[in-house]
Amino acid sequence: MAKTRVGIFGAGYIASVHADILAGDERVELVGVADMVEANAARLAERIGDARTGTTLEDLFRMEVDTVYITTPNTTHVDPVVASLNEGRNVFCEKPMATDLAGGDRIREAALASTGSYNLGMNRRYAYTHDKLKRLIESGELAPYSAQLKLNRGELLRPAWTADPSKTGGFLYETTIHQIDLLTYLFGSIATLRCAARSAISDAEFDDFSMLFTFESGTVATLSSSAHSGWSFPFERVEIYGRYATAMTEELERVRYALELDQTVHTEDYTHIPFAEKGGYVKEDRLFIDALQDGGEPPVDVDDACALNLLLACIYESARENREIDFSARVRESIG
Ligand SMILES: NC(=O)c1ccc[n+]([C@@H]2O[C@H](COP(=O)([O-])OP(=O)(O)OC[C@H]3O[C@@H](n4cnc5c(N)ncnc54)[C@H](O)[C@@H]3O)[C@@H](O)[C@H]2O)c1
Repeated sequence: MAKTRVGIFGAGYIASVHADILAGDERVELVGVADMVEANAARLAERIGDARTGTTLEDLFRMEVDTVYITTPNTTHVDPVVASLNEGRNVFCEKPMATDLAGGDRIREAALASTGSYNLGMNRRYAYTHDKLKRLIESGELAPYSAQLKLNRGELLRPAWTADPSKTGGFLYETTIHQIDLLTYLFGSIATLRCAARSAISDAEFDDFSMLFTFESGTVATLSSSAHSGWSFPFERVEIYGRYATAMTEELERVRYALELDQTVHTEDYTHIPFAEKGGYVKEDRLFIDALQDGGEPPVDVDDACALNLLLACIYESARENREIDFSARVRESIG
């Protein structure tokens, strides 16, 4: 089987995480790295060995990559994704897919017309903590009657652009998107949602959010997210309540669960597992390369990505208009 020829577009922090993982996959050849800041491309290329460097997406195309990792900032994803798909290249794009519905539609159209595949990077699905929750639910050991989730950020100061919605698309697209994705990944289709939000410390439209979701399964869940909690633990948590049962995550480090009344509380502790592994990055890259090599569906395909993009837009709409949204109806409308 021919190796997958990967080019990386955007050579910052998360690009280095993927590059390290891909460099260890014998099915992959890391062909090139491009970044508008040439020195960033050169630094990453040096880190992974003998990859070529460039400053534009077209430089990567000329290197005959068949697959492009898009790892530029949030509001710069859509154009390079569409251009890559139009060139018949496979795309792995970091979250978010887009920061509005029109961007998601453009990607969907390009993906449907392309011979290349599209995949959205949603590593938290495969984090050890969430993988454990998913297995408890799928095995029937834990029926999720209700849940509360949170995902905070310490500040919107370092780096300064995290407070700039023209770069992030808004706080939910930057940080909370991970937990929003977990809602449907763990509990299935959302029926209704309601979000109350305020802007407390930044110039962004909103930086504090309280959300309420009902699911078609009957599950009910809340999600709280603040952009300025100061980094004190816990800043990331999922708690699920079943019949005399609770399962909860503690950051990406531990899961604790008890599945019966008066029974042992089990703890799985992942503290000593390397971050890229326990954070789900290794698995998301492996599943994506598996799909390319075997001709299968990518793990988070364009329909999954569009569904998440619609959910984010509806949460913002609920906050702006101060009302509940019938999300099932929105999904039906979007399918046409
Ligand atoms: N899944 C995760 O856990 C996770 C974690 C961090 C970041 N991310 C996502 O990854 C993306 C990148 O984040 P980061 O933290 O690596 O950012 P970063 O600032 O560290 O790196 C971004 C790089 O892209 C380059 N760049 C910017 N605009 C460009 C353009 N138009 N053309 C070419 N290069 C350009 C910059 O020079 C920089 O080297 C973001 O979308 C972010 O949301 C995901």
